[in-house]
Amino acid sequence: MDDILSDLYQEIILDHNRNPRNFGIKENLNRSARGHNPLCGDRVRIFINIEDDNITDVSFDARGCAISLASASMMTEMIKGKTTDEARSLFSQFHSVIMDKKENSFSSDMEELSALSGVRNFPTRIKCATLAWHAMTAALDGANEEIKTE
Ligand code: FES
Repeated sequence: MDDILSDLYQEIILDHNRNPRNFGIKENLNRSARGHNPLCGDRVRIFINIEDDNITDVSFDARGCAISLASASMMTEMIKGKTTDEARSLFSQFHSVIMDKKENSFSSDMEELSALSGVRNFPTRIKCATLAWHAMTAALDGANEEIKTE
């Protein structure tokens, strides 16, 4: 990866970390789930509102590293307005890209996630990047319980 791209990715992560989108507790939304990374003790809570299978609102609350916060922030932006199947599909694509070590294979509507692609070489950081996404799918499942990255 060249330095300019690396700097851009770093800036995207820092921007979401400084100014996380859809950040806050929304207890009134009709689905929620908690995620916990036992390796570091960090936690995330996801709140989702589903109406007629559409995600009409989403928010999150977290205590975690820059990667986990940035990933959660990007995730909330991407799933709002999507159907539940589309949200699951976004996670599936995200997961396969960072696990399969494919380069730049995000679709155009997921391009910002490329900023997180560097985690693919660091298994512990993959857990940081996927923590909120696992919690999101647990919320879609109506699990309403804590999921762990282990
Ligand atoms: Fe805890 Fe990244 S170090 S989620």
